[in-house]
Amino acid sequence: MATYQDLKGKRVFITGASSGIGAGMAKALAEQGAKLVLHYCKNSLGIKNTLKIVKTIGADATILQGDFRDYASLGELFNQAWLEFNGLDALVNNAGVVTKSTALRDIEGLAFSETLAVNLQAPYRLSTLFAKACIDAGQPGVVINNSSIHGQQTCEWFSAYAASKAGLDAMMKVMAVEWGKHGIRVNNLAPGVVPVERTFDILNQPKMEQKWVKTIPMGRYGSVEEMGQATAFMLSEASAWMTGSTLTIDGGLIARGGYPIRED
Ligand SMILES: NC(=O)c1ccc[n+]([C@@H]2O[C@H](COP(=O)([O-])OP(=O)(O)OC[C@H]3O[C@@H](n4cnc5c(N)ncnc54)[C@H](OP(=O)(O)O)[C@@H]3O)[C@@H](O)[C@H]2O)c1
Repeated sequence: MATYQDLKGKRVFITGASSGIGAGMAKALAEQGAKLVLHYCKNSLGIKNTLKIVKTIGADATILQGDFRDYASLGELFNQAWLEFNGLDALVNNAGVVTKSTALRDIEGLAFSETLAVNLQAPYRLSTLFAKACIDAGQPGVVINNSSIHGQQTCEWFSAYAASKAGLDAMMKVMAVEWGKHGIRVNNLAPGVVPVERTFDILNQPKMEQKWVKTIPMGRYGSVEEMGQATAFMLSEASAWMTGSTLTIDGGLIARGGYPIRED
């Protein structure tokens, strides 16, 4: 594990830390000595578990609840997060919904709207609030959005999800351009296939694993630990000149191109 001394004591707000990649990020940042404000939506058991893990490591951490479908509530959520440790040094927009639906099954666009609300509008709102607070406080800041390889190449079922992630990639670039002069860096992480609680059972079925792993040049899935390590790097001074970039970590899947064909 790489150590980034400058992350010690850094105050980081991570959304969607109750499971999966967000929980992996929380653990990795706790190991670097960061102070954590951990958000969850419904999974109160999951967030308590993440809190226990990071506290066992020795991190100072608190939890906050919020549903990102409620856009109007995000201002108050951000204010609470900012106040937990008397300011924040970084925001990690990790929370997201992975919506699998063909466009023809979502004619009304309900799944589409909900996906955009959680995956794109909430990061927009939280990022802008964070940037404004950093500028008012006269301090630098770092934003990381958890995007996806679906922002770059996609496949059946993912019109809503891919649109939200491609939007996040584009939005990140504009924010990086606008906020560079204020010392605020904005970058995206684009994970490939990373088994999490939500997908363990499906991805670990031998037939499914064979199908996926065949398409990944490194011959395996990624891990939440690897995503946590990448996040630590992207928050640290080791990436001080990195802004407006998407860091793809996918075992080579996108470089090779071609997801397995999804059948209805
Ligand atoms: N796993 C992968 O292969 C992969 C690949 C590429 C990108 N990603 C991205 O990684 C991020 C985390 O996903 P994950 O795979 O780790 O899945 P996950 O374990 O299901 O985590 C999703 C997180 O988002 C939160 N969330 C869901 N709906 C929400 C809402 N309405 N309001 C606020 N928060 C909400 C969840 O909170 P609660 O559970 O507490 O409700 C949970 O903490 C997502 O942005 C996803 O698109 C994942």
